[in-house]
Amino acid sequence: MNGISRKIIVEISIYEFDHTKGVSNMTVKKNRQWLLKSRPVGLTKESDFEMVENDISGLKDGEILIRNIYLSLDPTNRGWMNPIKTYVSPVKTGSVMRGIGIGIVEESKNSRYSQGTIVTGLLGWQDYARSDGSGWLTIIPSLPNVPLPAFLNLYGMIGLTAYFGLLEIGEPKEGETLVISAAAGAVGSLVGQIGKIKGCRVIGIAGTDEKCNWLTNDLGFDAAINYKSESVFNRLKDLCPEGIDIYFANVGGKILDAALGNLNLNARVIICGLISQYNATERMPGPYNFANILLKRASVTGFLVTDYLHRMMEAIPDLHSWHTSGKLHYREEIVDGLENAPKTFNKLFDGSNKGKLIIKIFEEPTT
Ligand SMILES: NC(=O)c1ccc[n+]([C@@H]2O[C@H](COP(=O)([O-])OP(=O)(O)OC[C@H]3O[C@@H](n4cnc5c(N)ncnc54)[C@H](OP(=O)(O)O)[C@@H]3O)[C@@H](O)[C@H]2O)c1
Repeated sequence: MNGISRKIIVEISIYEFDHTKGVSNMTVKKNRQWLLKSRPVGLTKESDFEMVENDISGLKDGEILIRNIYLSLDPTNRGWMNPIKTYVSPVKTGSVMRGIGIGIVEESKNSRYSQGTIVTGLLGWQDYARSDGSGWLTIIPSLPNVPLPAFLNLYGMIGLTAYFGLLEIGEPKEGETLVISAAAGAVGSLVGQIGKIKGCRVIGIAGTDEKCNWLTNDLGFDAAINYKSESVFNRLKDLCPEGIDIYFANVGGKILDAALGNLNLNARVIICGLISQYNATERMPGPYNFANILLKRASVTGFLVTDYLHRMMEAIPDLHSWHTSGKLHYREEIVDGLENAPKTFNKLFDGSNKGKLIIKIFEEPTT
């Protein structure tokens, strides 16, 4: 993997390509782009977006034109649509919707990125992105037997979130009890498996019996709770008689509260996501069991993967070796067509996605 580390260039600042820069008039290509038309209220509607088609042609010195192949749909995209600055600024209405993607450099006037280079970065909900190479743009190495979408999953933000969130903040120790919400999702399923590799007892919380069965039968989780048909609080009480040592929170709301009510002494709570609140139209009530943080001398730490991107090459060798040795599995759902991005996005919130949700925009290059 050392060869890989030399080939990967990671730049950390959050950067968006300027989609509006002037272009000269060489070959005219069409670029379909999804613009954020209005700020969604609650779940996004297709009418919150507008597809436009613009001509793109010619590059200025230093620029590259990237043909987008895969687009990652992530729960955090929903927050970017709100008019509030979080860890990044909001997407402006009328701008191309921001999204992480993988693409191929189709034209280049930048010596760092030759034609045919595969890159990942904030390429946007569009067919083509143009860049001057600054900001976050990573060259993807060709790893034997690693399919390209895996760089949006195990070898991308998802894998890094699971790896650093659990290992750095959770500090799992053999024999400890680890509980994860949204456990059958892209991040959660990896967290649980890494927990098993580290010798934890692992319990997942998910929204269907099929997902729960996948966790216990296929991924080796010790138990799973269907939060839609069972009392999470009571099941956690039964399954964790000593309490939860590490709670990896992807959901927030009532599920977070149920976990807080079942903490062990010195528990670590990793706040990775609060997906149950991303479409809320009113402020959510705080957790009722928050006093347990004090009583159980627990620590609660917020986690953002962007703080760990510069350490990517610490994680990749472990993730790769666990995956190739059959200890770490992932799944993904790839939906064809950029035109389907807005309606596919809500699968993240109705739970119908099975693994990392990805839009395929163009076919992969054959060589
Ligand atoms: N902090 C970071 O740096 C970072 C990085 C990446 C992701 N995240 C967070 O990690 C979490 C998971 O992201 P992911 O990309 O792996 O997505 P994912 O888990 O693959 O998909 C989202 C899943 O969340 C569950 N869900 C949706 N709405 C819910 C609700 N109201 N209550 C309970 N469960 C709900 C659904 O599964 P069910 O069928 O089980 O309901 C859905 O399949 C999100 O909160 C995301 O924001 C954080």
